Amino acid sequence: MTDAHTHFDFQRLSERERYKLLIGTVIPRPIALVTTVSRNGQANAGPFSFFNVLTHEPALLAIGIEHHPDGRPKDTARNIAETGDFTVHIVDMPLMQQMEICAIKFGPEVDELQEAGLATVPGRMVASPRILAAPAALECRLHTVLKVSPARDIVIGEVVGAFVRSDAVDEKTLHVDQRLMDAVGRLGGALYTKTQDQFEIRTQTVDDYRRRQASTPTKGS
Ligand SMILES: Cc1cc2nc3c(=O)[nH]c(=O)nc-3n(C[C@H](O)[C@H](O)[C@H](O)COP(=O)(O)O)c2cc1C
Repeated sequence: MTDAHTHFDFQRLSERERYKLLIGTVIPRPIALVTTVSRNGQANAGPFSFFNVLTHEPALLAIGIEHHPDGRPKDTARNIAETGDFTVHIVDMPLMQQMEICAIKFGPEVDELQEAGLATVPGRMVASPRILAAPAALECRLHTVLKVSPARDIVIGEVVGAFVRSDAVDEKTLHVDQRLMDAVGRLGGALYTKTQDQFEIRTQTVDDYRRRQASTPTKGS
């Protein structure tokens, strides 16, 4: 097979070029709509797609938060450093417009939740508020801040509690209905993708795999 790829040496790329390649290839990325509260009690919300869950024991997730061009941390990063609490909301299709409002570069005095008309309730185990319309919310406590560069932090949080919309989860089996979650993923640029086009593949045991291999006629026979 011929190699039909173009190689890019990251040592020779600018920051912007690396960003373009990473967000264009690592797709789709889940979107965390993160709520926090400042030391003075000011609520805040912002979306982040440098985000994923890392492991379940302990239950850790990570968010890559870039600072403002002048080096000031974004409200989300500052509030997490101040209070240690944050809540990650999964963004579904009905939340998209409001999520976009939360991404607008408002000053720290603005409560994006109010701007976007998102109803909240106080956190159960954390100080950060919970958005009622989100299909799922993960209440987190700060585990570690990785100061990977002067321009950005990676925030690692431990999930201490989860809310899942009751119609989308079976309380007994904890099965989450993937269609009802209706989660949206972020692609490169300003593109997004839906998650309704689903299919199932189960990983086979070694024995099943070998058995199937043995019973499949080889090409050309
Ligand atoms: C879908 C989406 C994903 C985003 N992902 C990130 C991200 O991973 N890291 C980041 O620093 N900013 C990201 N942003 C930009 C922030 O949401 C934006 O800077 C926002 O104003 C931050 O809010 P805050 O200042 O209240 O914390 C994203 C924006 C959108 C719309």
